[in-house]
Amino acid sequence: MANVSVKRWNRFGATVAAAALFTGLGVGAAPVRAQAPLQAGAVDLSRWPASRSPAAMTDAQTEAFVTALISRMTLEEKVGQVIQADIGSITPADLARFPIGSILAGGNSAPGADERAPAAAWVALAREFRAAAAARPGARVPLLFGIDAVHGHNNVVGATLFPHNIGLGAARDPELIRRIGEATAREVAATGADWTFGPTLAVPQDDRWGRAYEGYSEDPAVVASYAGAMTLGLQGELGEGRLAAGHIAGSAKHFLADGGTLGGKDQGDAVIDEQTLIAIHAAGYPPAIDAGVLTVMASFSAWNGVKHTGNANLLTDVLRGPLGFDGFVVGDWNAHGQLPGCTNESCAAAFNAGIDMFMAPDSWRPLFENTLAQVRSGEIPMDRLDQAVRRILRVKVKTGVFEPDRPVEGDLSLLASPDHRALAREAVRASLVLLKNDGVLPIRGDARVLVAGNADDIGQAAGGWTITWQGSGNTRADFPNAESIWEGLKAAVEGEGGEAVLSVDGTFTTRPDVAVVVFGETPYAEFQGDVPDLEFHPDEPLAILQRLKAAGIPAVAVFLSGRPLYVNPEINAANAFVAAWLPGSEGGGIADVLIADAAGAPRVDFRGTLPFSWPRSPDQTPQNVGSAGYDPQFPLGYGLSYGRPAVTPRLDEVDVERGEGDRILFGDGRFSTPWSLVLRDEGGESRVADGARGASPRSRVEVTPVDGTAQESARKLTFSGPGRAIITGPALDLTATTEVHHALSVRFRIDLGASSDFQLGIGDQLTAWPAAPGSGWQQATLPLGCLPGGDVASFASVDRLLIIEATGPAAMSIEDVRLVRVPDAPCPRP
Ligand code: BGC
Ligand code: BGC
Repeated sequence: MANVSVKRWNRFGATVAAAALFTGLGVGAAPVRAQAPLQAGAVDLSRWPASRSPAAMTDAQTEAFVTALISRMTLEEKVGQVIQADIGSITPADLARFPIGSILAGGNSAPGADERAPAAAWVALAREFRAAAAARPGARVPLLFGIDAVHGHNNVVGATLFPHNIGLGAARDPELIRRIGEATAREVAATGADWTFGPTLAVPQDDRWGRAYEGYSEDPAVVASYAGAMTLGLQGELGEGRLAAGHIAGSAKHFLADGGTLGGKDQGDAVIDEQTLIAIHAAGYPPAIDAGVLTVMASFSAWNGVKHTGNANLLTDVLRGPLGFDGFVVGDWNAHGQLPGCTNESCAAAFNAGIDMFMAPDSWRPLFENTLAQVRSGEIPMDRLDQAVRRILRVKVKTGVFEPDRPVEGDLSLLASPDHRALAREAVRASLVLLKNDGVLPIRGDARVLVAGNADDIGQAAGGWTITWQGSGNTRADFPNAESIWEGLKAAVEGEGGEAVLSVDGTFTTRPDVAVVVFGETPYAEFQGDVPDLEFHPDEPLAILQRLKAAGIPAVAVFLSGRPLYVNPEINAANAFVAAWLPGSEGGGIADVLIADAAGAPRVDFRGTLPFSWPRSPDQTPQNVGSAGYDPQFPLGYGLSYGRPAVTPRLDEVDVERGEGDRILFGDGRFSTPWSLVLRDEGGESRVADGARGASPRSRVEVTPVDGTAQESARKLTFSGPGRAIITGPALDLTATTEVHHALSVRFRIDLGASSDFQLGIGDQLTAWPAAPGSGWQQATLPLGCLPGGDVASFASVDRLLIIEATGPAAMSIEDVRLVRVPDAPCPRP
């Protein structure tokens, strides 16, 4: 570390003489364990691979500086270091009073709560928080600002959006991953953040998991080959001083086996033996640690019934033992509140098990007070606190937050710079996997091309974690520096003398030579993306492909998805089928590969191969390479190219119900996967993990189980002030066709107040609650067309399927909530 840096630290109370105080405390010393080993989930350390954070993470000068700093910090300052608050729930003014050490911008948090805030507002926000923290009397330690830049700097409008990890996995190209890490880091640094919550090193084993796309591959070898490369891209090589300009801290997540939960349930339980835990799920961690990853995020999920957030065997014995990790462990979003005996506001157990920094988005203030009390009472040993603070300060030194200059901050020309966009486009080309081609590809550049489906929807192509947490509801205007798949195809075809026409429903007036039909999943994130099976639901894309086939027009299917799905009918109906995953902002990469020159010679060949096994039926999951009786439709590593053509025979189609019947959101006393309950008030939103008992952040809305036709078959929603209870899930297309209309059907009982005290909503449309004159259980059926804004467009992507709003005091119980299909139904009277 250069002397000049040491001098700058003086601002925060350190002195050059700090080196003299260096004792080596905490470096290479035995990990402090404040808790007896757990019985369940105990580990055999001799089985674990060895890795080691680079020596440069704990260089003598850094450690000396940290030692000196810790010796001057008050207890409050130390406790503040171990708590991270979300910008949606903390203000710069709060930082002037509370010595909180870190802030994050969660998926739904943004400057001024405006998800579409310009990049300059992000810079201003970072500066404002930093300045407020530094202005607190006696402040010694600057803030660390984290954000989920998981496919580029995805929270910020105008940033480059790289393909989600599943697509990068198809490329099998660690060097490409490193360059993507570099570009992502530059864009994040430009807007003033220091740290990204990535790379995700999940090795998803059950594709029903809503986060499958955040993993590079079901194959641990692919994840391992990327983990170090992404870390180096984001952070650069660790040296003695801070990270090189334009680099940020990374976070290997989610430790451990987030991709191994039973049934692919998000935040669920991996019921596996230790060998599987090591061989499959731990694969990415040693290379990330060897590459110097500065932080690790603990998983929400459990291993054999023990939540990782409280598992000292893994967080401390393994991670600080054989894995040799010297950075800090951050918890996930209020994950500590899920430990037995803990709440979001209080959880010594997580800290003592090895969580060094709590992610306490909205719970930071009571958590700060309670943690302080726990250190004072000795429930949290002082040396455990010092150990966590040391790790955090070390990372802060490396990240450079002690230095006054921020080399690329404010250089917004880095966002979607031409070279970053070119890199993303290269990644899109490399991520495409060709599953079928009867010769229709490549498309001659001089052809007349019909482009159908969602080719112009960049939001769909970008998936979850795009501008908002769920990524739903984005429009073309939200992507000023992007090219849609349609725009890319049009430019390529016109460039070669051909002609392209966009027709969402696939109809045409002038007969085309060939059609490209773009379709797939709509955006989702985390548990909202969990699905019961691998069936692809919408019928319309198949209908378009079949109509084109009947008309004798060859069709290329471009499938957008966050996981492999059963699509044999679509593959059979198409002449070529391309798995394009979630490509992001550079749709032009698809045209590069699909569109040949005017003479028919391909411009770029396919090189992607399957990062996940492709299922032959909706229920073929889990199905992973190496599993007993492995028999997928297309195996891991499969992928055709122009140079490696093959005939794809007609695939067997299994009988599945396509989108028929009711969708039950809540029935038999539980929320059915993938739907869940969120409670909202002016303090924000909180999800009720088990859907049974919980409260909104300011406790204006509470839920408890109550008896209906069966014991605890209903939920009572009590409003003591203004708020909403919301059932959310993956976005559904609920636009009416001529024969079918959707309606929401709710069995309910007013417990306090009258039906006029409630509003009912779907999506973002609210209306009066249908009249409930009597008492006791009643049934309401509300056709979507009866909502005030019930026009077709507003229901194209609906992820909030039921909203119950009240200003309180009022209470209502619900017992059965479902989406039904109705012919024409009358609108209920309020
Ligand atoms: C997710 C993490 C993410 C964090 C912050 C959590 O819900 O599980 O992956 O980094 O939120 O947004
Ligand atoms: C946040 C996400 C977070 C999620 C966890 C959302 O409201 O914006 O960042 O991952 O909640 O439940």
